Amino acid sequence: MDQQAAKLAAAQAALRFIQPGMVVGLGSGSTATLFIQLLGEQVKQGLDIKGIASSEDSENLGRQLGIPITDFDHHPSIDVAIDGADEVAPGLALIKGGGGKLLREKIVASASKRFIIVADDTKLVTELGAFPLPVEVIPMAVPLVAAQLRELGFTPKIRPAKTGSGPYITDEGNILLDCSSAGIADPEETAAEIRSMVGVVEHGLFLGMAERVLIAGADGVRELTLADLPFKQ
Ligand code: A5P
Repeated sequence: MDQQAAKLAAAQAALRFIQPGMVVGLGSGSTATLFIQLLGEQVKQGLDIKGIASSEDSENLGRQLGIPITDFDHHPSIDVAIDGADEVAPGLALIKGGGGKLLREKIVASASKRFIIVADDTKLVTELGAFPLPVEVIPMAVPLVAAQLRELGFTPKIRPAKTGSGPYITDEGNILLDCSSAGIADPEETAAEIRSMVGVVEHGLFLGMAERVLIAGADGVRELTLADLPFKQ
């Protein structure tokens, strides 16, 4: 199974968590997009659900596919959110934000009763950090936050715009610092340190949020919970 087929298999496996009447969190990125497309097919066949999107891209896609889109004013709680990840480590610790949508993704995840990750098995790691950690920062604070991240051992780089010149601007008008490192040995401690930097809006460490990971590879789709992927001793 190639990576694209694995993403699709994981997205397909997530459909069984969706029941009529649910409010569904719509993730962002290529795997979550496959899930939204599959969900859209189910809605066309009569499935009655509503979606809350974690990005403008996913909201637009949902609307195009006929998925009724709602918001936290009308539905302050999400039954289940399905989203991708850049890395999945022991303790179901995640790095997210490779697609630039980490802030709204974390808001959606935090409002969800169940947060389920769909990914291909290249995302499974023994320690977070080979994928640069995205940190969303208020524009004026970028030099200050970058200096503090360097003190923590990171090498932060401003994410460039996908097209044209200048930096990538998030859905909320902020800058992303992609932070390379030799590895994130203690994600909880790192998350707390980054959270305490004034000007940081959010970071891509998603800790204690995922209920399970649907991970697809040559052997098909595996479902990993904390029991399967416990914290490192
Ligand atoms: C978007 O900001 C991300 O958090 C994605 O969920 C993550 O980058 C995984 O994306 P893919 O499914 O495209 O690998």
